[in-house]
Order: sequence, then structure tokens, then C-alpha cells
Amino acid sequence: MRGLLIEGSMKFFVDTAVISEIEELAATGMVDGVTTNPSLIHKSGRDFKEVIAEICKLIPGPVSAEVAATEFEQMVAEGRELAKIAENVTIKLPLTWDGLRACRTLTDEGRMTNVTLCFSANQALLAAKAGATFISPFIGRLDDMGINGMELIHEIRTIYDNYDFHTEILAASIRTVNHLKDSALAGADVATIPPSTLKSLAGHPLTDKGLAAFLADWEKTGQKII
Ligand code: E4P
Repeated sequence: MRGLLIEGSMKFFVDTAVISEIEELAATGMVDGVTTNPSLIHKSGRDFKEVIAEICKLIPGPVSAEVAATEFEQMVAEGRELAKIAENVTIKLPLTWDGLRACRTLTDEGRMTNVTLCFSANQALLAAKAGATFISPFIGRLDDMGINGMELIHEIRTIYDNYDFHTEILAASIRTVNHLKDSALAGADVATIPPSTLKSLAGHPLTDKGLAAFLADWEKTGQKII
């Protein structure tokens, strides 16, 4: 029965605030959570709190909702407000000193937190020390600057394992199927994936070709399973 075990498996989050995209992918049984950010909320054209509430009903796993404040006290106040929406709201905070302080406060209150906009291993170390539930290193945005984003995932994995930090590495800013594969190879706990990238994962021309040949031969047997 080993194949039924899902303990320790890599989690897939969907990186979108569009309900129809989340519904479609949730049906595959592959979606463990959702991440949003202010840009994705803007793109969805929806009211922030309303759309987060809808997503939280659709997906029982962590749903990241980002604060808009940049100053500690206001960040904590916004985080508490967002946490009222649903149990599975994960408060997303930018990786600044105020964000890290807010992370410690909200984590100590028992909230899930996701420290975002991480671009260095030292930043990730700070987030772990602040008790973050998730750290979000942005792979694609580093690649855009000619810096190997995947190297950051390897570095964070090593540092967290050295000290047994429990903060989960959430590979973010994923733009390609190779970003996902390399994140899995590097030991990321979670990847947040744009819907189009997630949908393209199962496709392979040799799968299509092989299936067509099997179906043609099956037809020739004249048999039916049901
Ligand atoms: C998710 O938490 C991030 O906000 C998102 O993955 C950023 O992706 P982008 O760099 O493609 O905007």
C-alpha cells in the first residue's frame, strides 16, 4: 500500500486569484493550497476579501493573502483582519524588518505566515528565525536578472536542514516546467505554480503517440472491459 501514502510529498499550490482556474485544477486532486499577491488580485478584478473567502471554501489547504501595509503595527492589524476570513488564510508578509517582526507576532498568535519577496539565503534564514510557516524565494525574478534562481533553493534547503528549521520552502515565481522539476530536485517543500504551467505538466508527445497505438490495437481485439 506504499503508493497510497502522501506523507512527505511535495505540495502544489496554484498561483492565481481566478476562481475558475482554481476550480478546474482542484478537480485534478493535485491542489494543496493557493497563493495570491496584490498583482494577482488586481488581475482578477475581484474584491480582495471576497475572493479570498471563496478560495478558502474551495481549497481546504493554506491560502496566502498579502498585507498591503509596510509598517509593523499596521501589518499586524491587517494580518489579524485577513485571518478572520477563514482558518486556512496564510498571512503573506514582505521580507523587511517590519515584515519579519509582524511574522513573529502573528506566528506566536498561532497564524500561518508566508514571508514573501525572498531573494537571498540570509533573508530566508531571518524568516525561519521569525517562525515563518513558509518562505517564498522568487526563482523567476532572479533568473530575469541573469542570476540562477534555483541556486537559492539549494542554499536555503542546506541552511534549513543544517539547523532543522521547520519553515517550509515554497518555490515561487515559477515560470517553466523545468523550474518545477528543479525545485523538486532541490528539495523544495512546496511549489506555487501558475495554472497554465501546472496544466502543461502531464503532456508528452510520446504519451500521446503511445496511447494512440494502444487504442488502435485494443479496437482490433474487439473486446470491452465493461
Ligand atoms: C507567489 O507567491 C508569488 O507572488 C508569485 O509566484 C510571483 O510570481 P511572478 O514573479 O511571476 O510575478
